[in-house]
Order: sequence, then C-alpha cells, then structure tokens
Amino acid sequence: TNIGVFFGGRSTEHEISVISASQAMHAINRDKYDVTPIYITKQGQWYTGDALFDVANYRDVPALLKQCEPVYMEPVYGDYNLYKRNRKMFGSPIVTKLDVVIPVLHGSNGEDGIFEGVLESIGIPFAGCDTLSSANGMDKITMKMIMQACDIPVVDYVWFTDKEWFARRDELIKKIEDKLGYPVIVKPANLGSSVGISRVANREELIEKVDVAEKYSTRIIVEHMVDNLKEINCSVLGDCDDYQTSVCEEPIKSGEILSYEDKYMGGTKSAKGMQASQKRIPADLPVEMSDRIRFLAGETFRVLSCHGVSRVDVIVDDDTKEIYVNEINTIPGSLSFYLWEATGIPFDKLMDRLVQLALK
Ligand code: DAL
Ligand code: MG
Repeated sequence: TNIGVFFGGRSTEHEISVISASQAMHAINRDKYDVTPIYITKQGQWYTGDALFDVANYRDVPALLKQCEPVYMEPVYGDYNLYKRNRKMFGSPIVTKLDVVIPVLHGSNGEDGIFEGVLESIGIPFAGCDTLSSANGMDKITMKMIMQACDIPVVDYVWFTDKEWFARRDELIKKIEDKLGYPVIVKPANLGSSVGISRVANREELIEKVDVAEKYSTRIIVEHMVDNLKEINCSVLGDCDDYQTSVCEEPIKSGEILSYEDKYMGGTKSAKGMQASQKRIPADLPVEMSDRIRFLAGETFRVLSCHGVSRVDVIVDDDTKEIYVNEINTIPGSLSFYLWEATGIPFDKLMDRLVQLALK
C-alpha cells in the first residue's frame, strides 16, 4: 500500500504542517507501507521527492524543489496516478501510484474541506474528515452554531462579516458590550494556530483588533473571555459511530491566550526553530472533570460526523468549573500523536489506524 502524505499548502499554518507531516511520515511502519511525500508549495503547486522527508531541507525551499518532481494527480481506470507535471500535459510520465492519501495540512485549503473536496471528487480513499465535517469544523462560527443546536456548551459570542462591521459598527459594538462585556477575544472565523487572534479590553482595542482579524477573514467572531480559565485538549480517534478519546492535555501558556509561539516554538520566539511546545500530559484534573471533557470531545466529533483523528480544545472556567467546547482541529498539529502515546497507542499504530479507517 502506497500512502501519499500531502502537506504544506496555501495556509498561514504551512510551516507547522511541514513539521506535522515529517513526524507522521517517519512514524509510518515502512515494513508494511510505502510512503510518498507530496509537498504543496505556498503557491499551491505539488512536488514529490525523497528530499521532502527531511525537515532541515525546508530552510531553502527553492533549492529543495530543484531536487523534486512537480506532479499532479489523476484517476485512471481505478488507479490514482501521480504524473510528472510538464507543459504538454500529454504523455507525462507516471511518477507513482497512490493507494490512499493522508492529508497532513493545517488551516485554509487543507483542513477546511477544500483539499478533501479534491480527493472526494477524484475518488481516492483518504484519512480524516470528509469535506462537510472539515468545513464545519474549521469555521469557528458554523462550528459553534452546530454545537449550540446539539446542546454542547460553548462560550457566548457575536459574529459578523467585514462588510457588516463597516456598515453597522456602532450597533455591533453595542451588541458585543451588552452581550459579552470586556475582555473579549477577537478571531478570524477560519484560521488555526492562534493566527490573527487578539484579546481585547476596551472599545478602542476592539476596533483596532477587528481590523487585524479582517486581514485574515471576511467572517469575524468575538467571544466572551472567561476570566480564570484553563485550556484543555483531548483527541478523538475513529469515526462518528465508533470512536475513542485520549487522555487530556493542558498546554502551558506564557501570555493571556496561547500564542503561535506557545503552540509551536516551545513558548519562546527563539530562532533555534520549532521545539516541542510545553504541555502537561495528562492534565492535572479531577477524574469527573476529565471524563466530562472526554465525553464532550467525543460528542463534538460525533455530531460533526468526523473521521480519523481530531483534537477538541475546551475551556474550563476555573471559578465555576463549567466546561465549554472551544474548537475542533480536524487535522491536529502532530496528529496529536503525543496524546495517543500517553493513552497507550504508539505513533506507528496511530498511522496504521488512520490508514485502516481510510480504507474501511
Ligand atoms: N491548528 C493547529 C495545527 C492545531 O491546533 O493543532
Ligand atoms: Mg487549529
């Protein structure tokens, strides 16, 4: 079985995807599977080649691409072929045949159903969520609406489009202040890894930070900020009819909200490159609370009709002990392997599970 691992992509989380994919590719049991890396550049072109296995090579992407073949994929009589891309399009040599795809893309054009739609339209089996569940999971507004419809607790929020903000700003500010008060968190609706997210303490900052969020998305969500909160993450593996949940993790933050640096740079902005981020696994929680978080993570996975491995991030209000589902990552960073390891499933078994689920 030849597994095509797709990563990189037109996304603000491009670099994280390179790291996640490299970890995943190295974890795949090579006695059992072949692996073909397919790197999607920031412009959206596809490349394959052995040089793509080594993260160190991504320091100089133009040099890396010179060692790789530009490719595209087409289904031919039930085979899913990767062809060398050339200007003629006809007679392009086949580079390899893929049996199954594992998308290890984060954020836009990867985790949001767009890439999954390409795979579905070609018909190739792939690991993870389908187009619908990916899209519903990625958009923070749609996701919260579904949670509310299914009685899964979420924090209060107000949402609007950039055009609405421009047309009826005062009205929206009043709605935010009446419904949520300050502080609030302003987020672009469809990005991951804390990109474009700000904590806001007053009206001036609100206006300023909505402008920041608007650079990333036409849909903006403003959420109530729980004063005394703990963020807890829990991973879910399987399909919506039959899944299991991992132990919980508590990511450690250095500021008021978990930043991109906290999540991927080990809490430092050092130039040493990506380090393992700080986390407590398992999170130090009373059993009833971690059971409840695991239940809600599973429910979130189920009602969104997820597949493969996802990570659900919840907020615990340390004063009231209320738990709110905050978001789902349908292609979580590092595929959450560290949570599965702590739950008793080694990384190679996790990859095996994902392939089996895709081929089921
Ligand atoms: N979006 C990133 C990769 C995560 O939260 O896991
Ligand atoms: Mg995310």
